Amino acid sequence: MRDYSNVPVLILLGPPGAGKGTQAKILEDHFGLVQLSTGDLLREAVAAGTDAGKAAKSVMEAGELVSDEIVINILRDRLGDPDCSAGVILDGFPRTIPQAEALSELLTSQGTQVHAAISLEVQDEAMVERISGRHTCDGCGEGYHEAFKRPVVEGVCDKCGGQKFRRRADDNADTVRRRLVAYHNETAPLIAFYEGKGALKTLDAMGEINAITDALRQIVRPIVVDVRGVHAATKTSNSSQMETTT
Ligand code: AP5
Repeated sequence: MRDYSNVPVLILLGPPGAGKGTQAKILEDHFGLVQLSTGDLLREAVAAGTDAGKAAKSVMEAGELVSDEIVINILRDRLGDPDCSAGVILDGFPRTIPQAEALSELLTSQGTQVHAAISLEVQDEAMVERISGRHTCDGCGEGYHEAFKRPVVEGVCDKCGGQKFRRRADDNADTVRRRLVAYHNETAPLIAFYEGKGALKTLDAMGEINAITDALRQIVRPIVVDVRGVHAATKTSNSSQMETTT
């Protein structure tokens, strides 16, 4: 079995629209980590028409949570991929206590653990606005917002130059409200769960995207350095965009 003891495992917690995906992608580049979004993995399964995708489709469109069994299996498979040995940022997983317990068991069996669960604290009312303005580039998946994050050149993706954008099927005001209810009922208890394990960090995430990135980097950097160890951290410093974390 692979040795995962120097593999950082971070969780971004927060309701729909809190900025988990936006920030996870930035941290991925800064620290050479891999973003694991169960929402993205489920949408891929839906698009591919797998059994899991067929079971998940209507549940996602209704703004409810997909069964723990499906999500845990999808996450377990992805976590076993070789690229994850660089370290992972979990975005949208776990979302229930049973998912958190399954994750803990899985990581323990691989010689690692959750090093930090970072709770992005936001106000529900603002989330409906954030989500209704969201769209992504059809080519590379880069995320944008009609008011808060527009491409530099109107209608052209900053990252890949693509000119087609799309919206998610569950990004309408009614479904967002149901997703917020699911968050408060089933996911918010994870804040106390990780606090009890001494892994919780909290961050006010109502500011501008760049300010939140800076604050997150302050939290994440020492953890990544500590877990990887200084030598392992410098091994990944050959990308000009990536922090050396030393
Ligand atoms: P998922 O895809 O995980 O969606 P979500 O948790 O509802 O989160 P979002 O992706 O909507 O929000 P985000 O926090 O990533 O915000 P973003 O950065 O995009 O899940 C979808 C569905 O899949 C679930 O409803 C469920 O059915 C199922 N599912 C997934 N995982 C599951 C699991 N583990 N168990 C069971 N079911 C599961 O930002 C939003 C917008 O705001 C963007 O346009 C962005 O540009 C903008 N923005 C970001 N930050 C700021 C800021 N600081 N200021 C202004 N605008 C900002």
